[in-house]
Amino acid sequence: MKLTTSYLGLKLKNPFMPGASPLADRLDTVLDLEDAGASAIVMRSLFEEQLQGRRFAFMHAPKMDSDADVNTASYFPMVDEFALEPDTYLEQVRRIKARVSIPVIPSINGTTTERWLEYARLLPKAGADALELNFYHVATDCREDSAAVERRLLDVVAVLKETLAIPLAVKLSPFYSSLPNLAVRLETIGADGLVLFNRFYQPDIDPEELEATPTIALSSSGDLLLRLRWLAILAPIVRRSLGVSGGIHRPVDAVKAVMAGADAVQLVSALLQHGPRYLSYMVLAFNQWGSEHGYTTIDEMRDKMSLAQCADPQAFERGSYLRILQSWR
Ligand SMILES: Cc1cc2nc3c(=O)[nH]c(=O)nc-3n(C[C@H](O)[C@H](O)[C@H](O)COP(=O)(O)O)c2cc1C
Repeated sequence: MKLTTSYLGLKLKNPFMPGASPLADRLDTVLDLEDAGASAIVMRSLFEEQLQGRRFAFMHAPKMDSDADVNTASYFPMVDEFALEPDTYLEQVRRIKARVSIPVIPSINGTTTERWLEYARLLPKAGADALELNFYHVATDCREDSAAVERRLLDVVAVLKETLAIPLAVKLSPFYSSLPNLAVRLETIGADGLVLFNRFYQPDIDPEELEATPTIALSSSGDLLLRLRWLAILAPIVRRSLGVSGGIHRPVDAVKAVMAGADAVQLVSALLQHGPRYLSYMVLAFNQWGSEHGYTTIDEMRDKMSLAQCADPQAFERGSYLRILQSWR
């Protein structure tokens, strides 16, 4: 099967790439990933807090006057706890770009239109082929309504599109009241693709110490189901690219994601568990599956499923819900 695909306007040799994570922190791992067949390299995110130039990576506490300010600042990592500082990050883009022949996609996590946007200008100069905007935002302020949260995302994307000549992917969370509406608005202001989805890291509670405890659990194939639903709903609506991130562990997971509408398939947990070489198995077994099932191109595989499902997505969703609840005996 021919594996070439187009993502963010970039021609890729296959849909598989490492997602944003520490996987691109070391050059030897990056080279292993390229050898294993990665079609692009997505780097970990740099955070807008890192670009505010303060000792505490906390931009809303300019002065540590009160106990409350100090308490709030203590939630944040110190500047030197970040794996890559802004200068080192640019240097890493340059180093990777100099050694690989596949596209390099840095990532920035930013949720406001603050000064950090100026930094983004430096990324294409360092060799970035595209940028992934990681809009990891948990709404906690009851005074900010959902329209204002979305407005902020749209503003950030608009400024980035004005600032950058390279393609922009927006990595979203699934928690929007109307994702199709937001997706179309993002596309209208120029987003070149959407990545579904960010995985939210949910702190646990230690009931003895009365503390929230940060946990980072790797995903499983079960995480893919949420992505499949939204890929299938968005694929007929958006004209630009769709990437999937979350729950791709087995070759058949990637088959499902492509069938549901993904142009690019990002892996993190599977590669952290099995190492960079696992990517070559994924590419090979995916290809084999496609050939055995009579597909000759990625587009053919994608079209099959999206056409079948999307005549009336609302009825499909509602009908599935009703049927599934009745199926338990
Ligand atoms: C250790 C680790 C670090 C991560 N760092 C980032 C990051 O810097 N930026 C980002 O957008 N996502 C980050 N992610 C999220 C991944 O890119 C990805 O969205 C998530 O792990 C789901 O994909 P998976 O099921 O293949 O792991 C990180 C994930 C892990 C496990």
